[in-house]
Amino acid sequence: MPFSIVVGAQWGDEGKGRVVDLLAAEADIVARYYGGDNAGHTVTVGDKTFKLHLLPSGVVHPHTIGLLGNGMVINPAILLNEMDQVRQSGVSLTTDRIKISHAAHLITPGHIALDTALEQARGRQKIGTTKRGIGPAYTAKVTRSGLRVEQMLIPEKFEAVVKNHINQVNSQLGGFEEQMSLDAEKIAQDYRGYADVLAPYIAEVGLFAYQALEQGKFILAEGAQGTLLDLDHGTYPYVTSSTPTAPGALVGLGLGIGTANRVIGVVKAFQTRVGEGPFPTELSGDAAVRLRGTGENDWDEFGTTTGRPRRVGWLDAVLLRYAVRVNGISELAITKLDILSGLDSLKICTNYQTGDEVYDNLPWGPADLSQYQPVYEDIPGWEEDVSSIRSWNELPDQAQAYITRVEELTGLPVNIISVGPERSQVIIR
Ligand code: GDP
Ligand code: IMO
Ligand code: MG
Repeated sequence: MPFSIVVGAQWGDEGKGRVVDLLAAEADIVARYYGGDNAGHTVTVGDKTFKLHLLPSGVVHPHTIGLLGNGMVINPAILLNEMDQVRQSGVSLTTDRIKISHAAHLITPGHIALDTALEQARGRQKIGTTKRGIGPAYTAKVTRSGLRVEQMLIPEKFEAVVKNHINQVNSQLGGFEEQMSLDAEKIAQDYRGYADVLAPYIAEVGLFAYQALEQGKFILAEGAQGTLLDLDHGTYPYVTSSTPTAPGALVGLGLGIGTANRVIGVVKAFQTRVGEGPFPTELSGDAAVRLRGTGENDWDEFGTTTGRPRRVGWLDAVLLRYAVRVNGISELAITKLDILSGLDSLKICTNYQTGDEVYDNLPWGPADLSQYQPVYEDIPGWEEDVSSIRSWNELPDQAQAYITRVEELTGLPVNIISVGPERSQVIIR
């Protein structure tokens, strides 16, 4: 019963889509379990680049079946648009290839308007959300007033439910400084239209996944976001509203404890973050531009979903050890090693310090990192371009030493080393 989970070990955008694409070659089923279209996952195959927000990245492989789990919050307009785009790239997405959990929740323009209004009201304390309605949709779920995918199966009732929901949002929006009002009638009609198209894709995804495992099929669960954005385990309140960590794959797909046998933590060779919140190893000035890039390359550090420049910094092994612990990571995949070529020397944060006290691990989790100073270790850089290297032995000694140091600091093997965005640009050990 192989069930592997891919998780982001940092603040998202680690290159999960790229690593999933690699592993999905062997998978029968690929599955998203939490989050919504706040995610942006890039897969590059030859000269084609896919940017996936709701569909599992593994659907790019035509032999896979893609599941959207019960933990997800789904904007049907975005999903239909994404399905169209993926189809235009020559990938077929029939009802036997895509299954949407009946128990996933829906995002509406109401949730998006609330997300925007709440961010505005937070002022300088804003979270820097993607404004995709994620927080308000999960709030509705938790307060037991959410819209579930299964409601789309009864069209007349669904239309009335959506209308009622938008009217309620309108009265909530009335309480904000910048008042706005949504057209409940029009949105309800639109949603009925989406329901007509999506109904054949709705399924009992948990049962489907369970039976597939019983038949010996290989399921690859795809985390969105990253460990430090997890609602419970991240840098609260600068987090997303779901459970992107590996245990979320069980709840968010409806599978039981004991099913997962491999957790692959995806780690970018340096550290990035988009949105507000603490970032102890953050760089500024020229050093930051060097790691971020200017935007001329597809892979430069600008958000896949919002286009915002990502904050960048040195790799943080304290946070990595934390990610290993809360996810139960069994091995690491490192991406973007190629970006470090040409730097004279690199730094890794090995510990945190406050006054005379030095910490190997976070004493109180990652919520308040502002009190710690990173303790750095210098590692010599390498000049050579590594993007066409395909074996460990060919990597420059300094690049090998960098990876080996990550292994020592985390206690885990780095089995996958990505040296470019394209499918073939990888070293498997
Ligand atoms: P995700 O959200 O974790 O799937 O990551 P994103 O797709 O948002 O961001 C990762 C970016 O890095 C994308 O543009 C990828 O194409 C790119 N990428 C992934 N791995 C590598 C790599 O090894 N080298 C380079 N140069 N780019 C990479
Ligand atoms: P992938 O899957 C990076 C961040 C937002 C913000 C915080 C809350 O591509 O790695 P939300 O809209 O979720 O309420 O925003 O979380 N965020 C991400 N950052 N990658 C992502 O997804 C993200 N999804 C959400 O920037 O700081
Ligand atoms: Mg991303």
